[in-house]
Amino acid sequence: MCAGWMEEMQNDGLGGRDLPGPGLYLHFPWCVKKCPYCDFNSHPLAGSLDEEGYVRALIRDFQANAAGRSFATVFLGGGTPSLFSPAAIGKLLDAVRPQLEKGAEITLEANPGTLERGAFAGYRQAGVNRLSIGAQSFSNPMLARLGRIHSAAAVDSAVAEARAAGFDNINLDLMYALPEQSVEEALADLQRAIALQPEHLSWYQLTIEPKTEFARRPPPTPAEDLIISMEEEGRALLADAGFARYEVSAYARAGARCRHNLVYWTFGDYVGLGAGAAGKHTLAGPSSVLGPSGSVIRTGKPRQPRLYLQNPTRSASSSIASEELPGEFMMNALRLVGGLERASFTARTGLPWASVEATWAQTTELGLTEPERIAATDFGYRHLDRLLQFFL
Ligand SMILES: C[S@@+](CC[C@H](N)C(=O)[O-])C[C@H]1O[C@@H](n2cnc3c(N)ncnc32)[C@H](O)[C@@H]1O
Ligand code: SF4
Repeated sequence: MCAGWMEEMQNDGLGGRDLPGPGLYLHFPWCVKKCPYCDFNSHPLAGSLDEEGYVRALIRDFQANAAGRSFATVFLGGGTPSLFSPAAIGKLLDAVRPQLEKGAEITLEANPGTLERGAFAGYRQAGVNRLSIGAQSFSNPMLARLGRIHSAAAVDSAVAEARAAGFDNINLDLMYALPEQSVEEALADLQRAIALQPEHLSWYQLTIEPKTEFARRPPPTPAEDLIISMEEEGRALLADAGFARYEVSAYARAGARCRHNLVYWTFGDYVGLGAGAAGKHTLAGPSSVLGPSGSVIRTGKPRQPRLYLQNPTRSASSSIASEELPGEFMMNALRLVGGLERASFTARTGLPWASVEATWAQTTELGLTEPERIAATDFGYRHLDRLLQFFL
């Protein structure tokens, strides 16, 4: 698995110091209603949406906190960005555009239940060149159980409309291990998604997140052995259909990996703007050698839309202690099926490889990691949580 991956990484320019990024994340914190499984910073929309006010705030935030930077990727995520009209998204992207690299990937998350006719053509015209459509399942009773505001047919028409609008880079979000789901049902969902021929599939195991409706009233989720069968058979189905798994939950056709998410998984820098958005940036030291500590900074914005709107340029920031950097780096990099070159560790953390060498040797000895490359073995990948414990 590694050789092919390395070749693709090199073709994609992801080897060593030539790592992707930086990215720009823009958060849209409202949804029509809150799904019972979701712990993202999303708030049910009460009353009408002041899209102009929010876009104005995002632009102020951008001007204050992203000045002088250029971006290789933009991700408009939520919440539900597709609640915003193409005109509002266009205005925002017009403000951002002067700071985008040529050929920047610009993704918008879309909920099939929010799309007005012609919306995709409008987003395309506004500059969006990648769509991430929240399908979740193709079973109408299951969609109802998940509190979704759309049917399976709405997902089909969203994809058809996106294609008609000229989108050639589409992701579908799908979940499995859903309440009382059988292996056959999970595979049928995947087959429906594959039949729509997206370039990318995010296939997430449903997790019961604290403080969600599902945590308060847990639904009966499938037994562990059924989940394992879903994963084994589902991955085979995806591979047969030409989707290569490149991260725990991400599958792509050749050349269609999500460049923005690769920024996170390679521990790259990104500016996060909008209510509750997180960011990360690295302070470069002399001759691009980073200082021993305090050189990687995390930023955060107020989660409540009301508070954010009161003062959109305010950001909290704190530095990651140097002893936490190896764990933070590995938590991301080891999610990548083929991992990264060793040089990436120093490029991203400023620490010498020697700082993790002994731990790495120990995990390699146990058969969890590759000797030469920052990558889990097949065995290590199946026990990723255990492997990460060594670095945390
Ligand atoms: C921010 S949501 C995005 C998109 C859009 N709001 C929608 O729902 O259509 C990103 C994706 O994370 C996944 N997700 C959210 N909560 C999850 C959970 N508890 N377990 C597994 N996947 C989850 C869903 O597939 C969802 O589409
Ligand atoms: S899953 Fe998507 S639509 Fe549902 S509450 Fe979360 S962000 Fe909103």
